[in-house]
Amino acid sequence: MSSTFTIAIDGPAGAGKGTLARRLADHYRLNLLDTGLTYRAVAHALLQVGLPLDNVSAAETAARQVDLARLDRAVLSAHAVGEAASKVAVFPTVRRILVEKQRDFAKAPPGAVLDGRDIGTVVCPDADIKLYVTASAEVRAKRRLAEIESIGGTADFAEILADIERRDERDMGRADSPLKPAADAHLLDTSEMAIEAAFLAAMAVIDDALAKRNKA
Ligand code: C5P
Repeated sequence: MSSTFTIAIDGPAGAGKGTLARRLADHYRLNLLDTGLTYRAVAHALLQVGLPLDNVSAAETAARQVDLARLDRAVLSAHAVGEAASKVAVFPTVRRILVEKQRDFAKAPPGAVLDGRDIGTVVCPDADIKLYVTASAEVRAKRRLAEIESIGGTADFAEILADIERRDERDMGRADSPLKPAADAHLLDTSEMAIEAAFLAAMAVIDDALAKRNKA
């Protein structure tokens, strides 16, 4: 039996997987990696020096330089960086470089929660637990709007929804590692579920797997 425990969480932007990943990593005392930040770091490096996002060799260089211990969420969480990340994420060579770093992270004891788009399908196909967290595009857009308004900002619902749909299309439609649930993933639709309920549902699945593992 392996000495690490891996929880893979995939799903579209805004479904609540980041919050869920953090709660689960805290609860089970596992390392945590938001793999979206690695693609964001590549996009941010190109944006900063004004290089086009389709410059593959510059994106590969930036990907090699990504240091998982120095991902600055405050800088990388900007909306424009997320959009740009989904453009550099289509390049297979960039993905390969980042996936290797993500796999190394997952291997470190006691194990990790990783969230992204291809964790259960590509990065950690042997993960102990795979969750696919989703919600309707409308619900995700409403949540995003509420988040913006809660910090005093304003935004247009229709624009946010269009953005979300465009990002879904890019992430689900790309040839390499498209966003899709792994065959053995547990589906969690958070459209009408509070994050606490999603956390409890995920815990039930994980505790069950841990109990079986301890008996084996
Ligand atoms: O999750 P987040 O919104 O930060 O991800 C930004 C973009 O990075 C996604 O839209 C997706 O294109 C890409 N991504 C990916 N594979 C992952 C994580 C993120 O392709 N494992």
